[in-house]
Amino acid sequence: MLRQLVRSVVRHPTSILHYARERFAYSQDRKHRSLVGRAVISSHAQLVGFLAGASEEEFLQAKRTIGSSFASALARQTEAYSTFTRQGGFTPSHISLADACALYAIVRHTKPDFAVETGVSDGMSTLSILLALRENKSGILQSIDLPAVGKPQLIDRQPGWLVPEDLRGRWRLALGQSKRLLPAILEGRNIDFFLHDSEHSYSTMKWELSLAIQHSRKGALICCDDALTNDAFLETAIQHGAGWAITNDTALGGFKVAD
Ligand SMILES: C[S@@+](CC[C@H](N)C(=O)[O-])C[C@H]1O[C@@H](n2cnc3c(N)ncnc32)[C@H](O)[C@@H]1O
Repeated sequence: MLRQLVRSVVRHPTSILHYARERFAYSQDRKHRSLVGRAVISSHAQLVGFLAGASEEEFLQAKRTIGSSFASALARQTEAYSTFTRQGGFTPSHISLADACALYAIVRHTKPDFAVETGVSDGMSTLSILLALRENKSGILQSIDLPAVGKPQLIDRQPGWLVPEDLRGRWRLALGQSKRLLPAILEGRNIDFFLHDSEHSYSTMKWELSLAIQHSRKGALICCDDALTNDAFLETAIQHGAGWAITNDTALGGFKVAD
């Protein structure tokens, strides 16, 4: 693990600065945790119903569809993880299969033209959104992630390595910090769907979600993984959303931007 981190820092010297800044941002989070205990929570099917108007049966159908599409990706990922774990150990950081099914169902039902996500890593969320866009036969996904710095699991792999070649036609990937890249990417554009899954510090979450709101169409969907890490998601949802939902096990949150 240490060897991998050293390799990563040698290849990307700025990663140590990023790491220090990220640690500082997380250390400030304790000041922003007054709402999280009062959050409304739900099942994945309820989240999908609330955000996309899909019935429970439609969510189950989405689960069946995505299950087979994910089988090979999950097998490759499990194999890679066991290799990495043997080499030193780390914690995988991708969304759960239930979250992936929910994202797939939401995107299938709401058919966004322009979807944006921050935080790609292996690409579980990316894969589920791109699968839905392919079925929709419309829409583009713009993703942002850091280059593969300071992340032992991604050494020698690029962010989004799970996404197969034939799904990449509707995908744009920008590498760098969201704070640096998002403003230019969103300039003059309207988002239909946004997913935050990058750095879950209050400052970065609040900043990304606020910018996404500024560039959202009315009725756009704003989703956020680990929505109960601090108050950023709930504050934004209370101010700009028509209600919200958060899954009870994985804390995948979402709200529709109010008219
Ligand atoms: C939780 S993982 C994303 C998991 C991914 N959504 C999935 O389902 O596989 C978080 C990712 O956010 C990226 N990240 C962290 N801070 C970032 C920042 N400031 N800007 C852009 N990406 C960032 C990390 O590089 C990491 O790959």
